[in-house]
Amino acid sequence: MFTKVKGFHDIYGADIEYWQILEKSLKETFSLYGFHEFKLPILEKTAIFNRGIGETTDIVEKEMFTFADEDETVSLRPEGTASLMRAYVENGLFNNPGIKKYYYMGNMFRRERPQKGRFRQFTQAGIEALESVSPLLDAEIITILYNCAKSVGIDDVVRMEINSVGCPVCRTAYKEKLIEYFSGYESELCPDCKRRLNKNPMRILDCKVEKCKKIVENAPKLISYLCEDCKNHLNQVMEYLKIMGTDFSVNENMVRGLDYYVRTAFEMTTDKLGSASAVGAGGRYDGLVKTLGGPDVPGIGFAIGMDRIVELMKLKNTVTEHTSDVFILFFNETGLKIGIDLIKSFRKSGLIVEYDYETASMKSQMKKANKSGAKVAVILGENELADSSAAVKWLMSGEQSVIKIDGLEAYIKEGLREFRDLKYEIF
Ligand code: HAM
Repeated sequence: MFTKVKGFHDIYGADIEYWQILEKSLKETFSLYGFHEFKLPILEKTAIFNRGIGETTDIVEKEMFTFADEDETVSLRPEGTASLMRAYVENGLFNNPGIKKYYYMGNMFRRERPQKGRFRQFTQAGIEALESVSPLLDAEIITILYNCAKSVGIDDVVRMEINSVGCPVCRTAYKEKLIEYFSGYESELCPDCKRRLNKNPMRILDCKVEKCKKIVENAPKLISYLCEDCKNHLNQVMEYLKIMGTDFSVNENMVRGLDYYVRTAFEMTTDKLGSASAVGAGGRYDGLVKTLGGPDVPGIGFAIGMDRIVELMKLKNTVTEHTSDVFILFFNETGLKIGIDLIKSFRKSGLIVEYDYETASMKSQMKKANKSGAKVAVILGENELADSSAAVKWLMSGEQSVIKIDGLEAYIKEGLREFRDLKYEIF
């Protein structure tokens, strides 16, 4: 027997119901705010991520699935932002007028240590808005993230945390403070952090090694070193969030694991999933497009970890695997002809219909009807057909009646309504 690759997982059965509800809700929310779908390749040249995410980040240093392909080195995308900025530049989208708003949904790959809510292949839904530096946009983007949680009924188990990670101006002084602080603990830092100390000390703040995390606890906080412009920006974002009615708290310890962020950074977290606490995160990345060879345009966005959101949806609601609505049974040539006509018109009207391809005995077809999970069986027996009718059996209650074929669809739809209401009212 073959088994799956470590950190990759199969998604099927009742879980698919949650995924489909989530995909639909997210697409609807993104569209409502004027975002357009972007389908990006799964494989990109490695240099895009090295340059975009940062050479000294965990993702680039140790987590990418990278391999040589003919004469270049390529990587499975570990995230969508750098890819989208590559596409934005390569396709010259900055030549079009107005603010650009895109969304994407798809698999990302990171060679992390697998655990609850942390996979090597996972799915993100992300949005990116380009060409505005306004803090009003930051507040709207954070609000959208919160509304995504609302749209699937999990807003009461998440919290929105925001912070400012400053800009190159305020970071210069801050980095000096950090080097001074961490130098006092140099011998205790992990080998990666020792290397990062003079290269990129801010990355130590994001280290996952316990020893380093302890040292980080008392490190100077960037929020105390923000320049006037960054401070004003943060204050305005907070002001707009209040006006929009979006709850948040400031977490001055928050650092993001990617180098491209400036100013606004945010995470939507939960305490229901152990250490995989971020269910969505993002921030502003003015300068990234320029780093990737494009014009100097600002941007901001976020990505939702859909696998984690599904786990939260499962904690809160029960949705059963979607099964068929109707199972049609027939036993002879006449029954088959009438049956196929009924199946066609039922499916056209949105009902999920199954039947037995083997056209076996009544007993065997009834067994299959019960197993199919259908709510109702329509039996096209000889006697009923002679009277232009069918026997209808509700499989959960066993209740049975004979209905004229003309009125079948209306009768079944009426009976099925209570199942459908039950299923969808939660969301
Ligand atoms: P990120 O914080 O690396 O940001 O990932 C965003 C979300 O993806 C996380 O909050 C988490 O829910 C989910 N995620 C990350 N890694 C895993 C994993 N190994 N298993 C399961 N879920 C995971 C970014 O990726 C940025 N591109 C977000 C962004 C967009 N910033 C600006 N625009």
